[in-house]
Amino acid sequence: MPSNERVSEVEERLASFRKEDIPYSRVLSSMCTTPHPLALKAHELFIETNLGDPGIFQGTRELEGLLLEILGKILHNPNVAGYISSGGTEANIQGVRAARNLMRNKIKNPKEPNIVIPKSAHFSFEKIGDILGVEVRRASLDDDYRVNVAEVESLIDSNTVALVGIAGTTELGQIDPLVELSELAIEKGIEMHVDAAFGGLVIPFMDDPYPFDFQLEGVSSITIDPHKMGMATIPSGGILFRNERYLRALEVETPYLTTRTQYTLTGTRPGTGVASAFAVLYSLGFEGMKEIVSECIKNTKLLVEEMRALGFEPVIDPVMNVVSFKTEKAERIKENLMSRRWVISTIRNPRAIRFVIMPHVTEEVIGDFIKEFKKVLKDI
Ligand SMILES: Cc1ncc(COP(=O)(O)O)c(C=O)c1O
Repeated sequence: MPSNERVSEVEERLASFRKEDIPYSRVLSSMCTTPHPLALKAHELFIETNLGDPGIFQGTRELEGLLLEILGKILHNPNVAGYISSGGTEANIQGVRAARNLMRNKIKNPKEPNIVIPKSAHFSFEKIGDILGVEVRRASLDDDYRVNVAEVESLIDSNTVALVGIAGTTELGQIDPLVELSELAIEKGIEMHVDAAFGGLVIPFMDDPYPFDFQLEGVSSITIDPHKMGMATIPSGGILFRNERYLRALEVETPYLTTRTQYTLTGTRPGTGVASAFAVLYSLGFEGMKEIVSECIKNTKLLVEEMRALGFEPVIDPVMNVVSFKTEKAERIKENLMSRRWVISTIRNPRAIRFVIMPHVTEEVIGDFIKEFKKVLKDI
């Protein structure tokens, strides 16, 4: 055992490194947030669990099943199959991988599969092209930054395995015309993956939710991340499929484990994300989540008002709690704010500064930010 002095030294050093991190109360660009207090308790209880070997962690596995049931209910699919992943990137990889594997013998040249995605897609799709050997074709956007369906159609050919739509784009929080995309996927006999990493736990709790999930017949898989608006502890992503068939397409044999096969991308994987997501979603329920989402949307409107008063116009009227404001000075603003330990992000097309109004971005945080922002405007 290390000496008491060494233990104290380690604790001090850890605390001092942690202090260098910028607190969430000054971060207006992250899609993650301070975990819900219930998530923290659950996380602690499951800290040593490993779902990579579910025959050992049978209770954790059962809990994952219950969480999937909750997510399946939110996404209108009682037959949902899937698992809790390391995040949206892994979930997107697995969604496309399942589609590729299932379509392998249906496309003209199995060695040259392609997918069609919106130009607004998250950069994880670049990794997907590289890892899976799938050509990634990018369709342009319309004036509202939604994918142009006619262009998606023109990019589909006899080697297309899937098209991708986004429910809550990373930069603008926009929702693609998923109804039309779903019809197109059915018509062409291909799979459809919806990246709802962010929007999946926002849209269902909005007034008049746009259909984005398994209600749409063409949708085969959905990315939905509890470690974003689900306030779970990191890592907690989600890949959900229409049915078990997709999981079978991902399986490999696992000779030395308690189970015969594995469909996940990572081997060892924590049960903490399962427990923390379950704790939040089960205890808050639909009404609790609705309250959280409506507060975020109210605060987004507040930010828009404040920014308009300072002469900044949103790129699009916010659809959810993500908003970007046009400015040629985006990079300078971001850097100046960073020097003051305030974090926002930028987008390039159009040039704009981007905000994500997570639960930690309260009315008070917005007030503090605007005060600082006025100083930045004088500086640059
Ligand atoms: C729409 C979308 N998809 C996927 C991802 C990737 O998620 P993660 O960072 O959890 O891998 C993000 C991250 O912000 C996202 O906004």
